[in-house]
Amino acid sequence: MKLYKELAEWWPLLSPHTEYEEEAHLFLKIIQQYHPQVKEALEFGSGGGSNAFYLKKHFSMTLTDLSAEMLEISRKLNPDCPHMQGDMRTLTVDRQFDLVFIHDAITYFTDKADLLAIIKNAKKHLKPDGLLFIMPDEYTETFEPRTNHGGIDKDGRGMRYLEWSYDSDPDDQMLETEYAYVMRDRDGQITHEHDSMKGGLFSMPEWEELLAEAGFQAHFERVVFSDDPGSFFGIAATQVS
Ligand SMILES: C[S@@+](CC[C@H](N)C(=O)[O-])C[C@H]1O[C@@H](n2cnc3c(N)ncnc32)[C@H](O)[C@@H]1O
Repeated sequence: MKLYKELAEWWPLLSPHTEYEEEAHLFLKIIQQYHPQVKEALEFGSGGGSNAFYLKKHFSMTLTDLSAEMLEISRKLNPDCPHMQGDMRTLTVDRQFDLVFIHDAITYFTDKADLLAIIKNAKKHLKPDGLLFIMPDEYTETFEPRTNHGGIDKDGRGMRYLEWSYDSDPDDQMLETEYAYVMRDRDGQITHEHDSMKGGLFSMPEWEELLAEAGFQAHFERVVFSDDPGSFFGIAATQVS
């Protein structure tokens, strides 16, 4: 997506880190319920590092992402965290962690073979009692077409976006999302851009099966956001083999 490359400098205006405080604490509660002793965590697809900004107050965070531009944004917000560029399916950090955390970046995978590669790569980076926590945006069971908008003004610049998600074919395990962006620069110049993405849409039993294949037991935990109590579930995956 353009948002993670040429438009990455606008990310802090589209999705300011302050909007992640509540969710980071809700995720932390689940993480601590399954692993009260997390000291070192690794995040796959950490993007702008917004969740990490809050989670790093509780344990160390090593942040990884495919996009060099997004890592640059995150380094400004989290100069105290190690950052590394890599694809979550294949990257190798030569250490093991108490927690591997994957937030909304998991949505970009529409193929089960990719999800399995990611889950196995997470396992490779976990200590024997380590926890994998995944927070998919949607499941087949919970998906509803949705329209969001947002964005803020900051330091003389402004950005607004409209996000529209729908499922054009209920049989293809994919959802479609269209994004419209409007950016206003310091000199008042307005630019319009757009992005399209396809995301994975898998059922809870499918997640359970993939995790079991890699030696995890999946525990689905409801996450209730105050501004959108909808139906959101994180997966705390504990190791069984
Ligand atoms: C919505 S952002 C993540 C924001 C993050 N949850 C936060 O707290 O700031 C999604 C990120 O997924 C990353 N991504 C997409 N495919 C990836 C892959 N194969 N490996 C690693 N990161 C990936 C993108 O580069 C992007 O930065």
